[in-house]
Order: sequence, then structure tokens, then C-alpha cells
Amino acid sequence: MTANSELFDRWVRGPFVAMNTELENLYFMQRDRLRVIGVGDTIKGSLRDEGQVYVVALLREGNTGDGFENGFNVLGNVGMYLAALRRHELTNPAREERSPFAEASSLALHVGASLGMAPRFATSHLATHNKAIAGVRKSFTSLPDEFLFVDENTRGILGFQRAAAALTGIVHLGVSSPVADVLFEPASQALRDVLASNARLYTQLDVERFFYSVRPYYKPYRVGRQEYRGANAGDFSGINELDLLLGLCRASDTYYAQLLVDKMLFMLPSDQARLRECMTYRSLLDELLELAENHAHTGWFQQNGRAFLEVCDLFGQTAAQHHDQLVRRFIATPAAALAEEALQDITASGPPLPVLLRSLEVLRDMRTGAKRADINTRHADLARLRGLINRAD
Ligand code: HEM
Repeated sequence: MTANSELFDRWVRGPFVAMNTELENLYFMQRDRLRVIGVGDTIKGSLRDEGQVYVVALLREGNTGDGFENGFNVLGNVGMYLAALRRHELTNPAREERSPFAEASSLALHVGASLGMAPRFATSHLATHNKAIAGVRKSFTSLPDEFLFVDENTRGILGFQRAAAALTGIVHLGVSSPVADVLFEPASQALRDVLASNARLYTQLDVERFFYSVRPYYKPYRVGRQEYRGANAGDFSGINELDLLLGLCRASDTYYAQLLVDKMLFMLPSDQARLRECMTYRSLLDELLELAENHAHTGWFQQNGRAFLEVCDLFGQTAAQHHDQLVRRFIATPAAALAEEALQDITASGPPLPVLLRSLEVLRDMRTGAKRADINTRHADLARLRGLINRAD
């Protein structure tokens, strides 16, 4: 890190967290917890002005060439600063045509473009690449519910990544390999770990604290003229690698391919490369179905087909859990209790909530291989494979 980026990082890990936490406690103690404008103005002014000093120093330095890690860290810090300004209503894309924070926008655009990422903080800044210093990871506030959310998100992401890495290994061995079990088993175990961390979030995260004090930092905001959607726990390639490797979603499906294109710049460059490579593989489901014709009766087909279906089932369970439990409990239900005008900006990506919920439902149904006439799912192919495995038992 350069001296300027080090100083900014220290501020983000210290006074920035303290000011955000103080503001959250002020908002939360009100009868109307959504009221932000006109509350804690002195603290907001300090947050804005103190951060601006570091941003201007970094912009003057103009140094994005000090290695990936430094640039990535600066992008995360300036992104978190802008996200906090958005959260505290010091900027709002709905009432502006460009960000009022010109220097922070320039810095974010410069560093983002040089890294090949969107010019805002990404999930990886708070999850897989959130470096802890003496046991403390980066966060917006020091509220226990934010730590719980960030930690369990990270555990979930790491689980999906482990599962994806294991299945990628099978691509290289071929699904008929006698040693595929060595990779199917850790894939299943990693998905069981995701189910467990999601379950902890479901039972331990406080609905009100999450909804009113954590989620608002993930809203869309403008950088320069353009509005960028918020980060969400899904901005990593592992989940899509699993979709494609299992064959539950296809990169040739317009709906799904569009989604991949849209999220590309919100991912780390290394994730972008992994995802691109994954798009060139044939899925394990397609490989198994092709082999089924002549080999369904063999021991290896039965064993590996069963292991494949187990991974699919577990993956489907994580998708159903995300939608039917996490999204419903922490977003849909509290949002339903709000008045129409308060519903704006509820989601990280910006579309109205019913539209967002429908798109998440589509993903759930693809991943569970549900029977749907209106979208392409692998329901029939999975049923065929299940039939073959059962019949030979
Ligand atoms: C309190 C817990 C959570 C809530 C309320 C939640 C809610 C949401 C919402 C609303 C979206 C749509 C993003 C948008 O607003 O545009 C989303 C996307 C996503 N989330 Fe979560 N989420 C939670 C935790 C997690 C966890 C732990 C994971 C696991 C890594 C995860 C994985 C994803 C993925 C992969 C997407 C992208 C869409 C997809 O491919 O399914 N989420 N989430």
C-alpha cells in the first residue's frame, strides 16, 4: 500500500465505522426508522469531509500502478465511502444527474477501469478479499448483525467456491472416471456447509436490524454520471460455475447469458476468467445423458450418476433456501409492511421488488430443476437420469 492508501484504509477501518454506527443508532431509535434526512447532520458532515481529504490525496497521487492489491483496496475504500454517502442520503441517484462527489467518482473510475471492475465496492471487498487486521475485518458499522451477515455471506461464498473447484476437477477427469468420487464427495460436503451457514443467517440475523441498518449500504449509487447497482452476495463466479457445470443453466440461454454479462464487472478479474473458461465446458448432466444410452447399467454410471444427483439436490436446496427463506424473511416480508413510496431503492439492483423477486424465482426454479412451461429448466433431463439410476438399483 502507498502511504495515502494506508491512511485511507485506517480511516475506513476506524472513524468511518464509528460514525456510521452512531448514525445507524440514531436512525434506529426513531419511531420512523426510515427517516434519514435531517438526522445526525454534524456526524454526516464529518464523514463526508474527512473522507474527502483522503480521496483528494489519492486522486492527486494518481497512482493505480502499485499492484492489484493496492488498487483493489483503494476501489473498495472509495466505494464504501460513496455507499455510505448514499446510505445517509448525502447523494441519491433519483434526484441527481451526476454524483455530487466528483473526486471520489474520478478516483473510483480510474481505479475500477485499470482493474477491469465496476467503479464501486464489490462483494469481494467485504467477503472473500476482506483482509482482517488483528481479527477485525472491514465493515460499514460495528453492529453485530452486520458482522454476522458479512461472515455468513463469506462462508456461503467459500462453500460454493469449494464445490465449484471440485466439480471443475471432474470436467478434466471425465464423468465416467473411477476416481470422480474423490471430487463429488467434497462438492456435496461444501454445499452442506452452505446450507448450514444459510440456516445460521436465517435463525440468528435480526430482521429489523438487517433491513434498516445493514441492507441500506448496498443500494445503487452514481459514479460520475452513471448509476451502478449495489453489490450482492451473488457477485462471485462460483455459483454460476456450479450452474453451468451441473448443466442446470446454460450459457446459450438468453436470459441466463444476459445475467452473466451483467454481473461480469462486479466480479474479481480472476473470477471473470474462471467463468469465461467454464462457459467452454460441456456440463456433467449432458455428459451423463450422452453416456446413458450404452452405459446406464454399468457400476460406474450408477455410482457417478447417483453422486451427481446428490450434488444437484443439495445445490437446489441452497437455491430454495436463499429464495424461500432468506429473501422472504429479510426482504419480501418487511418490504410488504412498508408504504408504496418507501419501497423505492429496497433492492440492490434497482428494479421494483416484484420484478426482482420474479427473477430470483426463475433462478431458483432453474437450480431446482422445477417443472415450468415458461422457462427452460432441466426438469425432464433430470427425471430421465433419476429414472435410470433407480431402475438399475
Ligand atoms: C440475509 C441474507 C440474504 C438476503 C436477504 C439475500 C437477498 C438477496 C437479494 C435481494 C438478491 C438480489 C440482488 C438484488 O437486489 O439485485 C440476492 C442475490 C443473490 N444472493 Fe443473496 N441474500 C442473502 C444472503 C445470501 C448468501 C449467504 C448467499 C450465498 C453466497 C447469497 C447468494 C446470492 C446470489 C448468488 C445472488 C445472485 C442471484 C443468483 O444468482 O441467485 N445470498 N440476494
